[in-house]
Formats: sequence, structure tokens, C-alpha cells
Amino acid sequence: MAEPDPCRRAAEALLDWWALTGVDLGDSRQIMRAAPAPIPAQPRPAPASRAQPASPPKAAGLEDARAAASAAKSLAELRAALDAFEGCPLKKTARNTVFADGAEDAEVMLVGEAPGKDEDEIGKPFVGRSGQLMDRMFAAIGLSRATNLFISNIIFWRPPGNRPPTQGEIAACMPFIQRAIELKKPKLLVMIGGMSAQTLLARDAGITRLRGKRLIYKGPDEAPVNAMAMFHPAYLLRRPQDKRMAWADMLLLETWLDELGVKRGARL
Ligand code: URA
Repeated sequence: MAEPDPCRRAAEALLDWWALTGVDLGDSRQIMRAAPAPIPAQPRPAPASRAQPASPPKAAGLEDARAAASAAKSLAELRAALDAFEGCPLKKTARNTVFADGAEDAEVMLVGEAPGKDEDEIGKPFVGRSGQLMDRMFAAIGLSRATNLFISNIIFWRPPGNRPPTQGEIAACMPFIQRAIELKKPKLLVMIGGMSAQTLLARDAGITRLRGKRLIYKGPDEAPVNAMAMFHPAYLLRRPQDKRMAWADMLLLETWLDELGVKRGARL
């Protein structure tokens, strides 16, 4: 049996109510019943907007990523493997692969989220406005990409329009950032932003809960790595009132680095 039309049911109920309250309905019921049945709704095509393709990459693509990443024996080989890798659809729309920047012998490694427009144009992570704020924050405790910081991202190609990366895109990039951490063996890993922290720690908690703590990152095969999570500088540009908490995190980082014997430059 066909489903009763919900609009017609609602109109009938309204007429019943009016009748109960003494409204003179005239021939309203006859007019309504004579009205043609509504055209059944057509399924609407999915909007071609920022919708996230839900499907993860095919298992073979993931295997390729794992094989390519684990075959790399140095950061230079890993960079070359990423340049040759075609298993992440973001590469097709990006201008450049954005792998890493900074001192390869640094004991502190930062991992952000994904390149934006400026990074895509230049091919280096954190070179836009938020990157400049991040540089100033780390310079305040004597760390800079010129001497003692190594910087990379979870995602190596700019998502179109800076949309959040899909689970499939994250999965395709994951073996490469895991291998970068393995090869780098930082004394301290700083995860910049909620997506970076949630991905590397495999946790659902938001950045407000993860920041400001001594954490541990555990990669697939390697020994545990000391880790901290911080607010993303793009967030701090939008909410300068939270810079107070970010500064507390920088002080915790500074204390921890001193305990680990990590050398820093002069505070700028
Ligand atoms: N935001 C990030 O997370 N990474 C970049 O490289 C630039 C902006």
C-alpha cells in the first residue's frame, strides 16, 4: 500500500482542529481531496561540494604506501619515494609535494596537519601566516628550522580548498609520516593541531584535552617517542585569547627539552 502523503495528512489534521474549534470549513475538505497527488520526490544527486569521499584507499594502494615507505633508508630516500608515489588522490590536484623542512639532525620534530595554499606553491610546510606565527613561538624557546627543528605534516599534498582530508587520504599518507618519525628518531615529537595529535596517537579526544601533557607516540615498529600536542597556530590566529595556554605549553616543552638534554639556541 502506498504511504499516505505526509502533507495531506498534516492538512487533514489542521482541518480537523479547525472544525473542533468551530471554524466554518466550507468546502475546504472537498477541494483538498480533489487536489492532484503530489509528484513523488526524486532522489537528489549528492552535492558536488566539500563532501568527503568516504571510501578508504584500496588495500593494494595502502600496501604500496607501506612498501614504498618502509623501503626508504633515509629521509632523502623517503622524500624520493613520496615524489614517486601515486596512491593518494590529493597529488593530482596539488601543485607540489610538501614533505618537510628544517634541520635533518634536529632532535625536535614538529608534525602539522596538511599544506595550505602557500605551502602548496612553495613546496615547504608552514610557510604561510600560521607558519610564521609558529616560527616566532618556537624561536621564543631557542628552536628554529634553520638549526634545530625538523618540520613535516600528516598529509603531503594540499586538499582542494583546504578542506579536511578524508580518512582514505590520511591512511595513504600515514606510512610515510610514520617512517619519517622512525628515521628521524626525535627526542621529542610535537604534534601541531588536533588532527595531527588524534592521528598519531590514534585517539578521539580533542586538542583541548590532549595539549599541555607529556604523551607518548608509538609507531608501528619503533620504540616509544616522547610527544606533546599543541594548538595549531591557525587556531591561535583566530582565537588570540588562547595564546596564554599555548605559551604555557611552550614552557612545558622547554622544561622537558632541558630534562632530555636537548640543546637550544638563545631565546629570541
Ligand atoms: N598548516 C599545517 O598544518 N601544515 C602546514 O604545512 C601549513 C599549515
